[in-house]
Amino acid sequence: MGWKSLDDMELAGKRVLVRIDINVPVENGLVTDATRIERIAPTVADILAKGGRPILLAHFGRPKGKVVLDLSLRVCLPALEKAFGQSVSLVETLEGAEARTSEDENASILLLENIRFYPGEEANDPEFAARIAALGDVYCNDAFSAAHRAHASTEGLAQLLPSCAGRLMQAELSALETALSTPTRPVGAVVGGAKVSTKLDLLANLVGKLDVLVIGGGMANTFLGAMGADLGASLQEPDLHDTARDIMIKAETAGCRIILPVDGRVAREFKAGAAYDMVTLDQNTVLAADQMVLDAGDAAVDVILDEFKTLKTLIWNGPLGAFEIEPFDIATMKAAKAAAHATRAGALVTVAGGGDTVAALNLAGAADDFTYISTAGGAFLEWMEGKTLPGVAALGG
Ligand code: 3PG
Repeated sequence: MGWKSLDDMELAGKRVLVRIDINVPVENGLVTDATRIERIAPTVADILAKGGRPILLAHFGRPKGKVVLDLSLRVCLPALEKAFGQSVSLVETLEGAEARTSEDENASILLLENIRFYPGEEANDPEFAARIAALGDVYCNDAFSAAHRAHASTEGLAQLLPSCAGRLMQAELSALETALSTPTRPVGAVVGGAKVSTKLDLLANLVGKLDVLVIGGGMANTFLGAMGADLGASLQEPDLHDTARDIMIKAETAGCRIILPVDGRVAREFKAGAAYDMVTLDQNTVLAADQMVLDAGDAAVDVILDEFKTLKTLIWNGPLGAFEIEPFDIATMKAAKAAAHATRAGALVTVAGGGDTVAALNLAGAADDFTYISTAGGAFLEWMEGKTLPGVAALGG
């Protein structure tokens, strides 16, 4: 942990450029999940308490260096003001920002319009970074969830100004360190989701670090297929059978037990309420050409719950089945509830992150009991892959 925190910085009278990630879901002009916005409030409060002036930098969507009015950060203002309990002014242009930040006023918190409207942001252009750096005296990165991007506002600024991690960045780094770098053992992970191909590096890295790896969702089908099962119309990637076998060998060598579902809910239609059979899954399973495994079965869940009882630390990324449609949410819901229960009882440290995962844990009512829920999607995955995140590295982390 080579990085500084807000506690190490002298902020009185300083303009603090704070990189936040408020790339939040929006529907009909309203923020539908303000979690990322709420989680940066402590950073803003601490900067204000130390006499600093927060100037917020953020992206929204992928406008690719052009002004796209639909991707204006204006939509986030009400949620930001609610979270901070005070007014926030959107500054639409760099010229405007230059004027406003050189004013001596102790005005409202400033939010610079979508930083990805400028081509220099994603290019990490040194001239652009220098122009942004001139708006502040100190740089605070509170955007762990964008730290896998080497952009001007996530990486370049750290080279130009005295820098520190914000409170959310600090919390994310410390939770992930606790879960993966220095976990209380035995440590396990649930890794689910549709495709092995999106999580190859992650699986390869995890089997070298974990005691137990529970694989679920469509990914499990690819592993079962690699063992010889014929899973009919189930989602899987047959061209990755060799890779799946390599991961199983690597796991065995490293002493990591891979847990695949011993049974599954098998249906002929991918739709809510579809009729299903509970089918034993192993290398000898042969499904009809139109049958699909859509969820782990009851015996599989029992095995997973027994594994949870042996663990002290659990990392969760990805669902165990097609949790968006009932009844194929059953395995994910049961396992999530059990992990939450064990966490509440003090028996398990649980850390979760990545897109669908948080939605699934929220559906199960389990998220509040987890030890830590990361706000990150892609950055969480890259961290679990063992990659260096440029935004963290630039802080000296
Ligand atoms: C996210 O939403 O995961 C981050 O804001 C990163 O967004 P990006 O994938 O567009 O860089």
